[in-house]
Amino acid sequence: MKGRALITGLTGQDGSYLAELLLGRGYEVFGVVRRSSSVNCERVAHLNDQITFIQADLLDQTSLISALRRARPHEVYNLAAQSFVPTSWEQPVLTGEFTALGVTRMLEAIRAVDRGIRFYQASSSEMFGKPSEFPQRETTPFHPRSPYGVAKVYGHYVTVNYRESYDLFACSGILFNHESPRRGIEFVSRKITQGVAKIKLGLSKELVLGNVDAQRDWGFAEEYVEAMWRMLQQDEPDDYVVGTGVAHSVADLVRIAFSAANLDWQDFVKTDESFLRPAEVDHLLADSSKANTKLGWKPKISFSELIAMMVDYDIYRLGKGLPLYSSVALAGS
Ligand code: NAP
Ligand code: GDD
Repeated sequence: MKGRALITGLTGQDGSYLAELLLGRGYEVFGVVRRSSSVNCERVAHLNDQITFIQADLLDQTSLISALRRARPHEVYNLAAQSFVPTSWEQPVLTGEFTALGVTRMLEAIRAVDRGIRFYQASSSEMFGKPSEFPQRETTPFHPRSPYGVAKVYGHYVTVNYRESYDLFACSGILFNHESPRRGIEFVSRKITQGVAKIKLGLSKELVLGNVDAQRDWGFAEEYVEAMWRMLQQDEPDDYVVGTGVAHSVADLVRIAFSAANLDWQDFVKTDESFLRPAEVDHLLADSSKANTKLGWKPKISFSELIAMMVDYDIYRLGKGLPLYSSVALAGS
């Protein structure tokens, strides 16, 4: 029988890679999209005729129940969230509504429609925030540093709680930062690679950043959606940390990105306090031993390969005058 999967956050970076993975494995794919006055499906435009789009919103319980009744999925991947950390200080209540309570709404919808549905929750390394141990694993205590991180901790615990309370097959994937040519332009990796491309093409003269000492464990998004899928194929539901086990600073990212375009970063990069955060996450590093052993998941692409891929994509796209997530360019990304 053909598997059916419903993805919330289909229009985001991870949603687009996950949809490709599931289609490639023979699934019938349904994607939740929220209504907007302009079309916002650029990242999945090349999959338009293979996916069934369902209008729903994490803020609207009834719409989630209707989406499940319509799709009758075997698996639900809850990727939708207000995912940009700085916005969570500007809109803390809305971030809580989407990113925290939205998880409960989806779990309640599953309880109401079909308790057999397998559920994946997109949890985050931001939950570790100011970690008490290095590297971070499933048992590392949470110390979130933003309203976003706090909301993700709620989403994680309610997922664990519904597994324990109602015996749902509910998994929480604690994913560290993952990037790609499909990354939103507000996140630092893409801001840098697009900035480098603009400078290379003479479209810009400088790149202004915030805290370049922050360190993250950055991997390639396409590889991370494979880990999500593997979690839902196990015999038992569980929680997993997913990352590369290697950390780099934003300054490292800058150096590698500029050098991939044969430019000297010192000629172009400035810092500005307006990009600093009220509370910073200084350093994150994953211990993915459990995912390695139980899921057989291991990252393949190195940090420098990832950044070079993003720089190349942005130079190619901007050079051809293609839109941000052009389906022509994405087909090769
Ligand atoms: P993203 O590119 O920002 O995509 C977020 C998605 O959520 C978009 O499709 C967005 O739809 C949707 N969305 C937001 N609010 C919604 C609502 N109220 N109802 C329905 N859909 C809504 O994020 P991503 O990088 O793909 O990340 C996917 C998930 O993993 C997120 O939950 C994120 O917090 C989490 N995560 C990401 C990383 C990472 O490094 N990328 C690491 C750990 C965890 P619109 O297109 O309509 O805005
Ligand atoms: N965005 C941004 N812009 N970040 C900057 C800048 C800048 O100009 N300059 C320095 N940084 C630093 C931030 O202060 C942060 O320490 C780091 O770069 C990474 O920032 P982001 O790329 O915005 O990602 P994030 O780590 O805050 O959050 C991402 O990863 C989480 C997983 O740990 C998001 O994808 C979250 O949704 C995800 O959960």
